[in-house]
Amino acid sequence: MRLAYDGYLFRPLLEDTMMRAAVGIVAIAALLGTGPAAADGKDIYARACAVCHNTLPPKIGDKAAWEPRAKLGLEALVASVIKGKGAMPPKAGNPVLSEADLRAATEYLLALSR
Ligand code: HEC
Repeated sequence: MRLAYDGYLFRPLLEDTMMRAAVGIVAIAALLGTGPAAADGKDIYARACAVCHNTLPPKIGDKAAWEPRAKLGLEALVASVIKGKGAMPPKAGNPVLSEADLRAATEYLLALSR
């Protein structure tokens, strides 16, 4: 009797292993994508906001410029960042940023400006 061994026997096993590896990679990517980035206002500020707010008004750290805006409240300011305001484009021109990212960056900006 001949055994039907031609490599195909292992194909389901191989596919299963590759599937598991793929699922693992997706899970790790999701963790990296939403984990530290979502909460790290400093990092998001540096990447998405500093290009303007380090050099143009209202500048980070300029208490006089930020005081009247801070009075609008965090919610209103986050809403401005999401919708855009004046020369600031919606989501700071960075549509991949989530509301949580924009909020964290706004909190960071305000914390250093009062
Ligand atoms: C292209 C330049 C630019 C970028 C990038 C930018 N801003 Fe702004 N931002 C501005 C300008 C200009 C204003 C003033 C808008 C006005 O009052 O007319 C402003 C205003 C604001 C305000 C005050 C809003 C209000 O209602 O008064 C907040 C808060 C703010 N920015 C946060 C951020 C955050 C957080 C980021 C990054 C995620 C960011 N900005 C990125 C240019 C920029």
